[in-house]
Amino acid sequence: MLAVKVPKREAEKIRRRLIELGVLARGYVPKREGEFVLFPVTEPVEGFELVETDFERLERRPHSYREVVEVPDEVRPLLPSSFDIIGDIAIIELPEELMPYGEAIGGAILRVHRHIKAVFAKGSKVSGEYRVRELIHLAGESRTETIHRENGIRLKLDVAKVYFSPRLATERMRVFKKTQPGEVVFDMFAGVGPYAVLLAKKAKLVFACDINPWAIRYLEENIGLNKVNNVVPILGDVRKVAGKLEADRVIMNLPKFADRFLKEAMLSVRDGGVVHYYGFGPEENLFSEHEAKIKAVSKELGFKVEFLEERKVRPYAPRQFNIAIDFRVLK
Ligand SMILES: C[S@@+](CC[C@H](N)C(=O)[O-])C[C@H]1O[C@@H](n2cnc3c(N)ncnc32)[C@H](O)[C@@H]1O
Repeated sequence: MLAVKVPKREAEKIRRRLIELGVLARGYVPKREGEFVLFPVTEPVEGFELVETDFERLERRPHSYREVVEVPDEVRPLLPSSFDIIGDIAIIELPEELMPYGEAIGGAILRVHRHIKAVFAKGSKVSGEYRVRELIHLAGESRTETIHRENGIRLKLDVAKVYFSPRLATERMRVFKKTQPGEVVFDMFAGVGPYAVLLAKKAKLVFACDINPWAIRYLEENIGLNKVNNVVPILGDVRKVAGKLEADRVIMNLPKFADRFLKEAMLSVRDGGVVHYYGFGPEENLFSEHEAKIKAVSKELGFKVEFLEERKVRPYAPRQFNIAIDFRVLK
């Protein structure tokens, strides 16, 4: 193959020049020969010493498990293009037809993504009071505890025992940016603390409640892991706590049932304080039903609400979205 032979000390500059000229042959490893480097070229280049030689092919690492997994052709189009990564654990949603190939799919994920040590398939929808799902082990270690990094904090958690979604990282950062130094925050459904621990970096005090004992156990560990000393973990039903404290900012991250806890949220926020409400809504009518419920509860309590911001957080199901509504309560 045709190549240009250049002095080693000028190799990088000349490589860039060959790219600019559009003559560098792609997919080969440049060759070293003593004080010289040889670059493969697609045509003769004026002003350079030209030689004829062989080059090794560049081995491209696959980007996706789909490039290496062995499954029958008829089910290949069903392979999901993405999956969740929590710490060093991958969780993938497989259609029924792909479940017989779960081990092969898990193995392919481990081969392509070296930092992943265990792969599970979703075995059910998120359900129950604790909002957890069943998991089916596909490949790698059969371990469900991990440490996840997001927004500059570390969160230890067990994916089988507590709720956690890495897809909410951007939303949590949005709420962090709204939080003002000196605020008191009430995280009504705190889980292992992705909001509570993050907001504790800015707020004066964070009350963090959850009914799942495992979530509170990990929250306590995460408080230590991130060296924050202003989070108060509360194990129990938030209904027993609400109204007994007064916060500048209340977080209601229980989208499936948040509407049932609006009274508790409004009784726990100070006059002029802000509530971050989450819900699910169909594409054609994302916010209005939730707004109506918020208005009805505030009326019942003799308060007023001012809607500040409404946004889609992430897709949830076909044509369904996880939505966020920020509103101020005036008492
Ligand atoms: C959707 S998860 C959110 C967890 C966390 N905020 C996060 O972003 O990962 C909702 C959490 O609310 C908790 N929960 C459900 N009902 C509750 C209640 N009545 N009182 C307190 N916590 C509750 C569940 O155990 C679960 O951890």
